[in-house]
Amino acid sequence: MPDSITTCKCGETYVVGNPENEVWHNQVHDEYLNGLNVTEVQSLQSIAWRGQLRIAVINNSVEEPIRKAIVRVAMVAHRCMPSYKACYYGTNSEENLSLYALVDNTRIIGMVIMSYEEHLCWYTWNAKGDLQPCITDFTSHGGPKITRVWIAASYRSRGLAQWLVREVAADLSCLVSDMGWEMPFTESGEKLAKSLCPKEFLGYGDISSQ
Ligand SMILES: CC(C)(COP(=O)(O)OP(=O)(O)OC[C@H]1O[C@@H](n2cnc3c(N)ncnc32)[C@H](O)[C@@H]1OP(=O)(O)O)[C@@H](O)C(=O)NCCC(=O)NCCS
Ligand SMILES: [Zn+2]
Repeated sequence: MPDSITTCKCGETYVVGNPENEVWHNQVHDEYLNGLNVTEVQSLQSIAWRGQLRIAVINNSVEEPIRKAIVRVAMVAHRCMPSYKACYYGTNSEENLSLYALVDNTRIIGMVIMSYEEHLCWYTWNAKGDLQPCITDFTSHGGPKITRVWIAASYRSRGLAQWLVREVAADLSCLVSDMGWEMPFTESGEKLAKSLCPKEFLGYGDISSQ
């Protein structure tokens, strides 16, 4: 029987029946479901706790080897949304970026990548629930922007992304509504933004959903 190539919902394309491919896929699939195991995360302080889950911040003040080990989670997130860049690689040149890691013991099970954006504009949801530019305010604002948000698949739909975004806002001493969202949204990303900013929100980028 010929080998068949398949693309799994985790984003990985592999040859079914090829042992090497299957081993690789099993690891990738486990990261998609349960996040990335990174022992280095234990050295980071927490900004918030929820049961045994905690949030740690990774930025240029964290030693580079630790930072680079931890930001591999951005690649795990990238695999399940391949048309979106990983964005953060943990190098010193990325001064503008920080990564908030949602941690369960030694696993990173979710993340928000934040950056600073000069040109955030107001958007609103119309009666059909579609997003559109706010017609009463076309001015642009500078502020923190949610560049990426991701939760490992087996931890979704428990309110964890909402909690993570709220704690990021608290850490930055701002309101959730003061933070911008990078667009275009994914389907689930748009639902998250709508649940946190039901009236209007600050956005940057392409308005169409992916
Ligand atoms: C978007 C994402 C981070 C949401 O994480 P989550 O922890 O499941 O979100 P929450 O449980 O906090 O839910 C937030 C809100 O969005 C809704 N929601 C989230 N994902 C949804 C989905 N797939 N379908 C329907 N509703 C969804 C929830 O119902 C909730 O709204 P409510 O409180 O009004 O019911 C997660 O689905 C994910 O990682 N997706 C893949 C990566 C991605 O698309 N990131 C966004 C890039 S723009
Ligand atoms: Zn898979």
